[in-house]
Order: sequence, then C-alpha cells, then structure tokens
Amino acid sequence: MSKVISLLKCICPSAGSIQGSTQTMAFDFDSCPERAGTDSTKWHKYANRDVIPCWIADMDFTSPPAVVEAIKRRADHGVFGYPAQRDEVFVSIVNYLRRRHGWEIRPEWITFMCSLVPGIHATIRCASKPGESVVTTAPVYPPFLTAPVISERNPLKLEMVFVEGRWTFDWEKLEVACAQPHAKVLLLCNPYNPLARVFDRSELERLAALVRKHDLVVCSDEIHCDLILDPKAKHTIFATLGEDISARTVTLMAASKTYNIAGLTCGFAIIPDPQLRTRFRRVLQGLSLDQNVFGLAATQAAFDHGEAWRLACVDYLRGNLDLIEQELKSMPGVVLKARPQSSFLAWFDVSALGFEDPHAEFEKGGIGFSNGADFGGPGHVRLNFGCSREKLREILRRMQAVVARAPGKA
Ligand SMILES: Cc1ncc(COP(=O)(O)O)c(C=O)c1O
Repeated sequence: MSKVISLLKCICPSAGSIQGSTQTMAFDFDSCPERAGTDSTKWHKYANRDVIPCWIADMDFTSPPAVVEAIKRRADHGVFGYPAQRDEVFVSIVNYLRRRHGWEIRPEWITFMCSLVPGIHATIRCASKPGESVVTTAPVYPPFLTAPVISERNPLKLEMVFVEGRWTFDWEKLEVACAQPHAKVLLLCNPYNPLARVFDRSELERLAALVRKHDLVVCSDEIHCDLILDPKAKHTIFATLGEDISARTVTLMAASKTYNIAGLTCGFAIIPDPQLRTRFRRVLQGLSLDQNVFGLAATQAAFDHGEAWRLACVDYLRGNLDLIEQELKSMPGVVLKARPQSSFLAWFDVSALGFEDPHAEFEKGGIGFSNGADFGGPGHVRLNFGCSREKLREILRRMQAVVARAPGKA
C-alpha cells in the first residue's frame, strides 16, 4: 500500500529545533507504532483478541516531534520530584490562546489539573448545592451525564436534535430547563462529542442569552477545539461572548486531544471571575489532582512548537473522513447523519441494522467501537478514526461484513 505522507509546506518560525526558518514539514501518520502492550487503555481492553480498538478518544499517531523531544529532555534529567508550574507554561498557554483563538487571558485565571473530568465535577459542586439541577444534553461524553448524579444534583437532560442537516440544541426545551428555579449549571461540550458539531457563533450567542437570563454558570468543555476539520467552521470559545459571560464560565482545555498526550495527564481550567475561581479551587483542594512534570513539558512544547504537526494531523483526519463517507455508501443501515466538523469521532446510527446489541455485534465482528448507550444514545456506536488509513480501511472492511449479516439491513 502506498504511503500517504502529509506534507505541509509552511512558514513555521517555531517548529522543531530550527527557529525562524521556512521548512517543509513531513509527518508520517500512516506509520503508527504498535500500541498493544504499551499501557494503553484503548489497546489493553482487547489484548489478545482480534478486535481493532477504536473507542476511547486518543489517536494512534505519535505526538509532534517537539513534544517527544521535550519529554526525552525531561526524562534525561533523571530527577522527578514534585512539580512546580513555571511561568513559561502559563506564557505558552496565554500566547497559544491569543494566537489560535484571539482570546486574551491572564495567567492567574488558569488552574492546572491532571485531567478535565475533575473540572466538570468541580464546576458542578462549586456552583450548585445538592438537590439543585444541572442542565445537560444527550448523546454526550458520558461524564456529562454521570457527574451531576455522582454529586447528588438533578440532571435536566435534553436530547440534541437534527435540524436542517445539522445537530443542534432543542431551543424550546432548553429554555424550559434553564428557567427552572433550581437550575444552576449548564454543561456545554464545545465542540460537541460525540456529534462533532462546531457550533456557530449565533448558536452560542443564543445559549449565552439563555444563561444570562436565567443566571446559570456554564462549564464549557473545549478539549476538542483545535481539531476543526470543516474548513468552513470556526470555533468560538464560549467565554469570549462577553465579559458577563466569561464571568459565569469555567472553560476546560488541554493539549491532550489535539497533540495526543492524554496519558501525560495535564489539563487546565480557565476561570476569569475571582470568586468562582476561588470556589472551584476550594473543591479541588486536597484531592492531589495536580499534573506531573511530563504533562507540563509536553503541553508547553505542543503549544509552542506543535502547529505544523497540528495542521498536518487535521489534514490526515479529513482524508480519513473522506474514506469513511465513501465506504458508508455501501453500508445500508449505518447512518452518519452529518459529516463530523471536528475531532476524530464519528457517531453512527446503526439502529436500522436490527441488532439487539449492536456494539456487541460489532465486537464479534472484530471492531471495538464506543457503545452509544454509554453516551445516552442506544442504537448508536462511535468510531474513533484517529488511526492510520490502513487500519481504518480494515475497520471499514470488517464493518461491511457485520452489516452484511445484520437482520434488518436495508
Ligand atoms: C469532551 C471531553 N471532555 C473531557 C475528556 C477527557 O479529558 P481528560 O482525559 O482530560 O479528563 C474527553 C475525552 O474523550 C472529552 O471528549
């Protein structure tokens, strides 16, 4: 099979070790290292079974060379005592957000954490009391459904709707939910996992008007915001929609999805409002949820030197998406309602195949999808297409075979 090498000719003053030069950057996303036996959650699940893991959201690609170098340099130091957050890491984040998203933040707004899920829990706990309500949507990344319940809050769950060719909010129901006097927090997945929507600014403004009117705190999880596949889509950071909106928003971010460093456990919350920030930090206090020295080094390297790799990765993922769309034409009963606009996740409606447990049937056929039921979307599976094109072809080939034996294939 011929190799597809993503070549990117770019002016990249900060890439690699050669500063200030014009370079041709080449990244080989076709050659992914073997991950079985490498302490990988994704691959360990199907150890010693002929099932291709394409579930949990990390990619099979090696991280940007600058990230790998930074980790090697840190490991070579050989001393791994308690970490401190150096000013340089804050500067990296501030500069990155200004450069990529036009968002001007202050370093003191940042709270580091080992990952983002604790940030969802902390926002709920610092902005509501037990018995009060959290507005959330479905299908969605599972902690958006479980975190309110774990914290003894009442989830007000709304189904996302498919209108005029795209997934969006059910505005009428959303207004009713936000208007409940006991509703205190809204969970926003921006861009949206698993529907891969990049919301328009106008949709987010409508949402902002609702939370303003009903006085809700928003937890905006923007972990997928740097893998925008749709060239026409532009990500809007929710907190940028006005000073009053930024004052009621906890923004959760990380380099982990984009630069494939989830195993280095480093994320952060950005909270401009000092009172909300203090309450948030108080909830986390004493839980030892700090990031580690490798996570800090990798985050800084990714944000400072990862841009050429990021662009090449987006390009490769678009190619994977083209292949998926092409192959789905011959898979009746597998419905991808809209081309994913972001990240590396595709949400398939497979209810028409007529399987009682579609996830299990695909596993039997050698494919380890995420189970839609876990996201509040039974009858669906989620494909992680952050893998080599060759692996994706094999996944799609296996899907064909499962579809061919489905009881209800159209
Ligand atoms: C929307 C969203 N938030 C958070 C996470 C997980 O982040 P972390 O590993 O930093 O907790 C994921 C992982 O898939 C995700 O999709």
